[in-house]
Amino acid sequence: MKKLYIKTYGCQMNVYDTERMVDVMAHEGYEVTETPDDADLVVLNTCHIREKAAEKVYSDIGRLRLLQDRRSKAGEKKSLLAVAGCVAQAEGAEIQRRAPTVDMVFGPQSYHRLPEMARQAGKITDQGARPRLVDTDLAVSEKFAALSRKSVSAGKSAFLTVQEGCDKFCTYCVVPYTRGGEFSRPFEDVMRDADRLNAAGVLEVTLLGQNVNAYHGRDADDQEWSLARLIRHLAAHTDFKRIRYTTSHPHDMTDELIAVHGEVAQCMPYLHLPVQSGSDRIVKAMNRHHTIASYLRTIEAIRAVRPDIALSGDFIVGFPGESDADFQQTMDLVRQVNYAQAYSFMYSERPGTPAAGREDQVESHVKSARLAELQAELDRGQRAFNDAAVGRVMTVLLEREGREPSQLVGRSPYMQAVHVDVGGRELAQKYLGQMVEVKIVSAGPRSLKGELSLT
Ligand code: SAH
Ligand code: SF4
Ligand code: F3S
Repeated sequence: MKKLYIKTYGCQMNVYDTERMVDVMAHEGYEVTETPDDADLVVLNTCHIREKAAEKVYSDIGRLRLLQDRRSKAGEKKSLLAVAGCVAQAEGAEIQRRAPTVDMVFGPQSYHRLPEMARQAGKITDQGARPRLVDTDLAVSEKFAALSRKSVSAGKSAFLTVQEGCDKFCTYCVVPYTRGGEFSRPFEDVMRDADRLNAAGVLEVTLLGQNVNAYHGRDADDQEWSLARLIRHLAAHTDFKRIRYTTSHPHDMTDELIAVHGEVAQCMPYLHLPVQSGSDRIVKAMNRHHTIASYLRTIEAIRAVRPDIALSGDFIVGFPGESDADFQQTMDLVRQVNYAQAYSFMYSERPGTPAAGREDQVESHVKSARLAELQAELDRGQRAFNDAAVGRVMTVLLEREGREPSQLVGRSPYMQAVHVDVGGRELAQKYLGQMVEVKIVSAGPRSLKGELSLT
């Protein structure tokens, strides 16, 4: 067996893509290794969303170069090094220039060609030369056809990509350029993957898309399927106990999808609905296609059908031109919405995006101060949400082992991490992968502790 090491950066879409690459390379005789030290092929599945994420890739390549040098001094064969994902798509030529140790560069829509590229690259290195292969084609459907799920990992919770790419063009964001335009997988393809997961005993499925609620896949009769309809179908025709979806755009949060939250028991009471800023002036400059009032109306409608829903979001502080007053509107919005949790970032100027060229960039110390203030408020909200869970009994899907042998970790319906001591190593093996009733006994800033509830 040859050895494959893949490092995944960025979003869940990359996690899913990594699983697909592992799948496709297993058919080529590669098995996964946990370290690059003994790998025949190293793949970095990269993220371009913020400058820090992209720079991390170059420092990892630097570290891998040292490893390669050590290996060649020891007379061992060098591994093939591939850079995949969004940095590859955006900066293919730059990577080749800055990092001559990289053998292959391929974008998110070319993974199905990885086996062929690896074979070709292998032949070239056997002849003593370093290969320089690049593939940054953006035609999506071909990839999905070639990479549909062949194997299913043992976990009880799985991702299923139904939509990829984005046509929204928020003025700060690289995704429409790195992932290409919006593409919805055909209904039958999605169901084929869903059926495989179902047959493998998966209990929780998370439907993925950069704008997943804009899903509009067609079926063989050329009928269009909305995300709402797809969720209803999955709930009726599979045994999935939990259905989640991410990430949603406020603009595409239809009444039909909101109704699903009130009517479909398997649709979990958690929604990640990024708003980015609480200032109308700023969301307009971000080209977000919604206002703060329309966002609040959407949230009100969701809470009307599912009062306990846990809301999550993304925020950017320090977008060009953001004043103190704009930022305070973000703080007001956060206090008003009461998020169960949320992610917040300092605006990062991304090459090629419309906001990057603006002259009214916010100074970095101002961005840091705003981020700290916002995060303190979001932390307070998350803590309050977690505290409110204490004493309640919740269903938890025990997905993985915890730090102690008798401990398992899972998620509540509201996406909170719950640590459960099941009372022994053997019991832990028995309960791993099960959905159980858990009484929450204490809450921390990022997680809950619970015990099995026998009633
Ligand atoms: N498609 C999703 C998420 C895309 S990226 C959506 O629209 O919600 C995830 C998050 O990264 C975004 O929601 C945004 O908050 C953040 N982000 C994107 N570009 C950024 C940039 N240039 N600087 C800082 N944060 C950014
Ligand atoms: Fe980026 Fe906006 Fe598309 Fe999300 S909706 S991926 S933030 S352009
Ligand atoms: Fe990053 Fe690409 Fe995802 S830029 S956030 S890995 S879509």
